[in-house]
Amino acid sequence: MESKAAPLGTAFFFAIIQAMLKIDVISVQPKMFEGFLTESIVARAVKKGACEVNIVDLREFGEGRWRKVDDSPYGGGPGMLMKCGPWFAAVESRIGEGVRAPGTRVVMTSPAGRKFTQRDAESLAAAEHVIFMCGHYEGFDARIETLATDLFSVGDFVMTGGELAAAAMVDATVRLLPGVLGGGPAATASESFGRDGLLEAPQYTKPPEFRGMKVPEVLLSGDHSKIEAWRKSEARRLTEKERPDLLR
Ligand SMILES: C[S@@+](CC[C@H](N)C(=O)[O-])C[C@H]1O[C@@H](n2cnc3c(N)ncnc32)[C@H](O)[C@@H]1O
Repeated sequence: MESKAAPLGTAFFFAIIQAMLKIDVISVQPKMFEGFLTESIVARAVKKGACEVNIVDLREFGEGRWRKVDDSPYGGGPGMLMKCGPWFAAVESRIGEGVRAPGTRVVMTSPAGRKFTQRDAESLAAAEHVIFMCGHYEGFDARIETLATDLFSVGDFVMTGGELAAAAMVDATVRLLPGVLGGGPAATASESFGRDGLLEAPQYTKPPEFRGMKVPEVLLSGDHSKIEAWRKSEARRLTEKERPDLLR
């Protein structure tokens, strides 16, 4: 299932600013990405020519009549493991064998990986080609890891497959590409985990009072320097309360 190419005009415009990011997601459950590709920020990024996203069905690289991609683990144990053959063939179909081109990242989704952060999303957004490997069953044969440049986890919990992890990382990455978000770089600069490393300050919209809860007076004052100072101190207060680890 290949996503549609962006209109040439928009694609050309963004090519001047940054080469289009190519994303391949390899999965044994490609249908999981159908809504994700048509209904999310990813659809918008593709339409604007900021990236292309290809969903690659691992089963196409499966072995034998039944296109087998898994087998039982040596040494015994529950469940099945993903086999080397289909994974090497699938990844090499996108980037060839051996040395990776600079700018190519191969991301293995894994609970054993380093926890994916905003800095990683920024770094993937600056790449030229990113391949996401979605595991399944009891995970990958350990030798498949040699294909990866990065092992990323999305948190200390175990999911059934890597599809949701890959989708989360693709979303966090493509929204950083130039031209994808309406507000431009300013839309992401002041967000949580931005350059100051803090969480974003609380935000409010109309009405000014709801069920007795009032919007802080300073936000209605129109005094931009006071608003900025309030936001900075609230960002720090919130971070100390919810994520003190970010201050260390
Ligand atoms: C059921 S899990 C395998 C878990 C493995 N047996 C273990 O104990 O670490 C199947 C696949 O889901 C994906 N996955 C599960 N949890 C994940 C997480 N927290 N972050 C990233 N990927 C995850 C990985 O691709 C993994 O290979």
